[in-house]
Amino acid sequence: MSALARMVQQVIEPQSVLEGAGVRLNRSIGTQRLDYLDPFLLFDDFTSKHRLDYEAGFPLHPHRGIETVTYVLEGEVQHKDTLGNAGSIGAGDVQWMTAGRGIMHEEMPQVRPEGITGFQLWVNLPARLKMTRPRYQDIRSDQIPEITQKDGARIRVIAGTVGAIKGPVTGIAADPTYLDVFIPPHTSFTLAVERGQTLFAYVFAGSARFRQADRSQRLISHPHLVILGDGDSVSVKTEFHSVRFLLVAGKPLGEPIARYGPFVMNTKKEIEETLLELRDGTFVTT
Ligand code: CO
Repeated sequence: MSALARMVQQVIEPQSVLEGAGVRLNRSIGTQRLDYLDPFLLFDDFTSKHRLDYEAGFPLHPHRGIETVTYVLEGEVQHKDTLGNAGSIGAGDVQWMTAGRGIMHEEMPQVRPEGITGFQLWVNLPARLKMTRPRYQDIRSDQIPEITQKDGARIRVIAGTVGAIKGPVTGIAADPTYLDVFIPPHTSFTLAVERGQTLFAYVFAGSARFRQADRSQRLISHPHLVILGDGDSVSVKTEFHSVRFLLVAGKPLGEPIARYGPFVMNTKKEIEETLLELRDGTFVTT
């Protein structure tokens, strides 16, 4: 197989939606336009400087059959669940939560002068792991390795491997890559990635050119989500501005999905069973 650069396949404009108890956020995956980007079910950017946009938070709610990845860059999200876990996700921290057979939790952004900057991604679980035991990986900012390249580009490696550097999130079925990439102005950046995985970049600051099929490069400015087609490398070029984006990749599952709000299973029957458990109080069993 010869080397193949990944090219822009689709550019998604985030949609403003109200979620939780009234949090205004920008959603790029999990909309009518892009319902599912296998294995990614949802991608939200809940960044805001205005307390009214985020202070209502996400009071007690269940999840089953998925993993949620919360990355906070500014501000703080406090969380607790009915299993007795509680904690805080602060600036630069990541929480990778495997809901498995079920958790019931709240996620509350704290009102701070700096507001909140953060993202939540939902990753689907394969059928064999949908009912696995819930698991949290809480990763503090100082546990996340940051690579600084000679040209000034910086990569925080949350999950996956860049060169010899491995991210702290491990044991995830989708074999994910989750990077936070900063590229200074007037820089050409190329990163080797795995072929066969679904891959997107979420540009949340600045702008940059991404490789396109006609050998030209498409200028993408924040906030946009770019889906890149298959290949072994990602090429990004900045001009007068720097750029910062999340680069996320994972193995597609290729399984049927039955989705109902915070529950994602393989069949409608499994969703019905989940709703029954919620009704008769047997949903969270451990
Ligand atoms: Co949640």
